[in-house]
Amino acid sequence: MDRTIEGKAYINGTFETCCIGFENGKISAVKKILKGNEHIDFGHKLILPAGIDIHVHFRDPGFIQKEDFSTGSLAAAYGGITCVFDMPNTQPPAITLNALVEKTLIAKKKSFIDYGLYAAITDDNIENVEELAKKCSGFKIYLGSTTNSLQLSSQQLKKALHKISKTQKITLIHAENESCLKKHERVEHNLKDHLYHRPSECEEISVRTVLESSKDLSSKIHICHLSSCEGFEALRGHPKNFSVGVTPHHLFFDIKSIHSNHTFYKVNPPIRSPLDRETLWHGAINGFIDVLESDHAPHTLEEKEAEFDKAPSGVPAVETMFPLFLAEVKKRKMSFNRLISLLCEKPAELLNIPKGRIEKSRDADLIVVDFKEMSTIKSEKLHSKSGWSPFEGWPAIFPSCVFVRGEKLIEGQEILVKQGFGRFVGE
Ligand code: DOR
Ligand code: ZN
Repeated sequence: MDRTIEGKAYINGTFETCCIGFENGKISAVKKILKGNEHIDFGHKLILPAGIDIHVHFRDPGFIQKEDFSTGSLAAAYGGITCVFDMPNTQPPAITLNALVEKTLIAKKKSFIDYGLYAAITDDNIENVEELAKKCSGFKIYLGSTTNSLQLSSQQLKKALHKISKTQKITLIHAENESCLKKHERVEHNLKDHLYHRPSECEEISVRTVLESSKDLSSKIHICHLSSCEGFEALRGHPKNFSVGVTPHHLFFDIKSIHSNHTFYKVNPPIRSPLDRETLWHGAINGFIDVLESDHAPHTLEEKEAEFDKAPSGVPAVETMFPLFLAEVKKRKMSFNRLISLLCEKPAELLNIPKGRIEKSRDADLIVVDFKEMSTIKSEKLHSKSGWSPFEGWPAIFPSCVFVRGEKLIEGQEILVKQGFGRFVGE
């Protein structure tokens, strides 16, 4: 055995004081006592599966003033995430085989952690679904316009989903209906205008269109960043092949809790009412919501400090997501079981990767957490290029050690592997 570690590990839904053995990057044994070439005893600290973020925008290539695969993956690693799936709204957009191959080479060179890539399906590349499927981990469909988005018209959705279903890949949907957004468009001076422009009704219409267009299909369909009671209602009793995601910002903020003209909270879909937020929490806790996804969408401080109407939508969140929710677990707002399901088990199942659980034959992707060590989020200590966080000053529990495929990636503040350590997953 290459290495063994010992501590209070989260195995099969409970904590057990035990040893975990690593061999060739995999978990090779979980036993009370194990001996390896190297043994690390973490004492009272918790050993959890590392997080998987199925929704990030690392901006590479095209917008590397905001982020690149190196800084994005470093930020993820410090936040206990060892695998990310990157969105296609880069430049050139990931809508052709060439762009996907180029992006894969960039990630291969720069990423500290494992990664997968989505291809977007637009009105112009539906015919290429099969070809794109060979080089991507899944597909993204934008049904409404957003930052550099690549839209698919609702009329083409059925055709696109049918083609994708033949590839067995997952489809992630940005569910805001474009005609509805257009109908409510206005000059925006503050977050209330932004919310008026993108009402819950647009999410509801879009979710219903997806349900309607995917009847008879069994391939996986994931509704990204659910944000409203109306969307929630529309999804009630959804078919088994559907899953639902929520972001930290939609769970932690509502329009009443934040300053109305602050561009930091300008994001699509928008931050909504306290009732919407409560409903989403309810869904995250009772299991209606399947996945926590950061929708890490970094923009520079300069870009965000523009006039409200011109400032881009999106918030950086990949480094703070797991730590913020560990603090929520400590406050007993969420159970460990729900958190690990939302951030580790379900994402691994959806993207079909051997991670997300401490179990023999899975990748040895783990984090070590001192549950007594509550700290405070400080943007200057984070690793994203964007340099700001909507969660400044929030309580959080950061991992003290992170392993990816059995290698120690982070210890304390130190990064111990080189750029390019990350591998492509989910092809
Ligand atoms: O607020 C958002 N920002 N929503 C999206 O859908 C895209 C993202 C971005 O890429 O900045
Ligand atoms: Zn996104």
